Amino acid sequence: MIRSALADLVPYEPGKPIEEVQRELGVARVVKLASNEGPFGPFPAALAALAESAQQLNRYPDGGAYRLRAALAERHRVAFEEVALGAGADGVIDCVSQATLDPGDEVVCGWPSFPSYVIDAAKLGAVARKVPLRDHRYDLDALLDAVGPRTKLVYVCHPNNPTGTMNTRAELDRYFERVPEHVLTVLDQAYFEYIDDPDYPDGIEEYFKRGHRVLVLRTFSKIYGLAGLRIGYGVAAAPVVTAIGKVRRAFDLNQQAQAAALASLGDAQELERRRRANAEGREEVVAALAEHGFELAPDPVANFVFADVGEDSRPLFDALLRLGVIVRPTHGFGAPDGIRVSVGTSDENAALAAALARARSAAPS
Ligand SMILES: Cc1ncc(COP(=O)(O)O)c(C=O)c1O
Repeated sequence: MIRSALADLVPYEPGKPIEEVQRELGVARVVKLASNEGPFGPFPAALAALAESAQQLNRYPDGGAYRLRAALAERHRVAFEEVALGAGADGVIDCVSQATLDPGDEVVCGWPSFPSYVIDAAKLGAVARKVPLRDHRYDLDALLDAVGPRTKLVYVCHPNNPTGTMNTRAELDRYFERVPEHVLTVLDQAYFEYIDDPDYPDGIEEYFKRGHRVLVLRTFSKIYGLAGLRIGYGVAAAPVVTAIGKVRRAFDLNQQAQAAALASLGDAQELERRRRANAEGREEVVAALAEHGFELAPDPVANFVFADVGEDSRPLFDALLRLGVIVRPTHGFGAPDGIRVSVGTSDENAALAAALARARSAAPS
């Protein structure tokens, strides 16, 4: 009955709800630094738009997300037909996989990296070629070496989840000069708005608009604080966007998500405030982890930090959990000795530092 392509897949294992963890462990406060969410809620204008759109929840959403799609096209100065919306960037990854991959086709990605690239390919009977990172960063030359005649998609996770590392503009320029014509590169910039490194390229401006075959991903889940609503997008050539539109379910983009995303686009000041808060908080998380001698992935640029703890990270995860701090052990990303810690508020980062100190002093040496 069940398709053989699913045999090795396991259902997504959700973390327990915060309230449940709190109740089970009897801790007064739980700090969740596990899912690379922003620590702040939706933008004020998005909250107002949500209240208003709640009145119309008896209606089906606009299946074409016309207003949001038009606003994104205008913002990026691309054609309306070049913007693909999805239920999160993850929804776009799902759709581009469905739109391109036949059984036996291949995708290439770095590893450890974002698991959806591999899982969505596997669901379709396609094969993922996982290319080891080099010094915690995508090795773009090795990625190109892994491309074969059946490769349809190459994922460049930029910055990479779970390591938080980026490639330079020169490295990406070289990659795009060399990548074969038959490949669609998916340049995943889910954390784009957090990054202020001048050597970090804007994939839409620098690769898509210069004619490269690329789908650039962005999301409202991170700095915009809308992870719970599920809305993201990609920019690509019109035929790719049309194909994504063919496989996306008609009403996947709910009305509240569309309204909140649209309302979020106007507030450059709040965006800047969050970018700065994140940069400061990231230093706090780096310091808290470095204190314990973990090997950190160098120069993290997004809202999370990766640490190799030198052994299976599950016991440390459990110890931190009992102290009310939830981090992400990175077994599912292909890094069983790692933890990934999202940047919280200053207060939450201090709770992390305190819990780490307690967990480590209690650990048998
Ligand atoms: C690299 C990367 N891509 C895509 C996503 C998916 O984000 P969303 O589906 O919430 O837009 C994430 C989420 O953590 C991510 O880390």
